[in-house]
Amino acid sequence: MKAAIMGFGTIGSGVYEVLKVNRRVIERRVGSPIDVKYILDLREFEDQEIAPLIVRDYKEIAADPEVDMVVETMGGVEPAFTFVKTMLEAGKHVATSNKALVADKGAELIRIAREHSVSFLFEASVGGGIPVIRPLLECLTADVIEEITGIVNGTTNYMMTEMSANGTDFDEVLKEAQDKGFAEQDPTADIEGYDACRKIAILTSLIAGRQVDYQDIPTEGIRGISATDMKYAKILKRSIKLLATSRKVGDTYVARVAPYLLPASHPLSKVDGVFNAIFVHGNMLGDGMFYGSGAGKLPTASAVVGDLVEIARNLDKNLPIDWEPEALALGDPQETVE
Ligand code: HSE
Repeated sequence: MKAAIMGFGTIGSGVYEVLKVNRRVIERRVGSPIDVKYILDLREFEDQEIAPLIVRDYKEIAADPEVDMVVETMGGVEPAFTFVKTMLEAGKHVATSNKALVADKGAELIRIAREHSVSFLFEASVGGGIPVIRPLLECLTADVIEEITGIVNGTTNYMMTEMSANGTDFDEVLKEAQDKGFAEQDPTADIEGYDACRKIAILTSLIAGRQVDYQDIPTEGIRGISATDMKYAKILKRSIKLLATSRKVGDTYVARVAPYLLPASHPLSKVDGVFNAIFVHGNMLGDGMFYGSGAGKLPTASAVVGDLVEIARNLDKNLPIDWEPEALALGDPQETVE
């Protein structure tokens, strides 16, 4: 099977690495190897293995009948949307890690994929390497999910863990996170909660079966949290966590992103560092939690390649994703009891 990777940054190069390092395992699970035929990127690459695969024009990939599946790891809504749409219309399956794209255009891309009898999968868009989307859609399909509350941003969770453990100031810990490569050079989307907002919008859309507009979700980040807040939280035997939460209220959902004071008894209070966790409550399941590496090159790439393997093993069966484009009006968090 032949694949193409669009965007050879941290995650895209991780996808290449996972396909290479685990080649034999993947071959055994799929029944044939998955080879990368093209890498779409505008930069120059010295690496002799990578350089011959580089193409500049996405249409070259779309026009090649040998390419079965395409990975999108470019980030952002455009031009990723145009490229992904073109690939689906050309009959190529697509796997993406791009939460901005999925939150904004997920329903539309699923519709296009269906019309062309191909798959559009996005396990890596929420929780990095943690399996959460497919378990929700498949294993928990008999449940009504009444609550999803997650720590879905590794950068801010790392920062708050450090502030709490070492009394480090916000600016100092942000610089440290950037130096260690956790935080982006422009960390606005993480710190202001926009990244977590896209992720809870995706999860809410999936459990509601309808498009949720991420712009309707009240979102507050962690810029206002200081080391002093952390110190007082500790005295109260609580921890402060940036939570993205969505609860079923009647026929709709109430979602929000904000820092919360959590009692030590809550399972999310012990999720520290770059780890993510997604707590769910189902009307039959009761409580459950998905926990693990929520960000980073190889964990996220592992989820993307997991989608490729899923595609390759089930070419005749699309994942049953119920996500209608008709917008769902969310409830007002101010009118519900927290
Ligand atoms: N910036 C994101 C995070 C990357 O820190 O969680 C994973 O989506």
